[in-house]
Amino acid sequence: MTTERQRYGIEFDHMRLLAISGSLRAASSNTAVLQAAARLAPAGVMIELYDRLGDLPHFNPDFDNERLPAIVAELRALTGAVDGILISSPEYARGVPGALKNALDWLVGSFEFPHKCVALINTSPRATHAQASLTTTLETMSARLVTEASVTLPLLGTTLSVDEIVERAELAGPLRQAIAAFVETIGRH
Ligand code: FNR
Repeated sequence: MTTERQRYGIEFDHMRLLAISGSLRAASSNTAVLQAAARLAPAGVMIELYDRLGDLPHFNPDFDNERLPAIVAELRALTGAVDGILISSPEYARGVPGALKNALDWLVGSFEFPHKCVALINTSPRATHAQASLTTTLETMSARLVTEASVTLPLLGTTLSVDEIVERAELAGPLRQAIAAFVETIGRH
């Protein structure tokens, strides 16, 4: 029987990834794709969804110090504890959703974020502006953007459940490949 490790052709041991969806919508396709990624991850790789994006206060440099809000300290600690971050975000008005940019702004001054491996999932082939803007922001924040693990999936206009994404080979295949490339790159670093 082929083990998960053999199927992915890589060696890893208890890798932990944080998944951040740029959408706060309950039926978000970006959140669904990250939940599908968690289901498709090989054994030994844990992908956990960050569920407090909407609770973060607006970024204010006045509090980016010893007065850092507890929820931001928690996000920074989480960032430091994981091996990589998967981001899937919609595009709003040709830009990055405010809630996601807000979270990234809180991470700019952290020591946990720089050099962190980051992969981008785009659920809409036409949403190129947000991806470009996100890329610029993440590069400015010294993220290690893993382009070979970044993937665009044609989910725009669909209302697929997590189960349906996992079951569709044309979606699950590229998603699995992206995770494998991400895990492999993180392993090398
Ligand atoms: C959008 N959408 C959108 N799409 C796009 O390609 N370019 C854009 O500029 C915008 N602008 C935009 C503004 C607002 C206010 C909304 C609500 C939507 C479409 C949006 O990216 C798309 O519906 C995503 O699939 C939503 O993702 P979730 O919520 O399903 O994860």
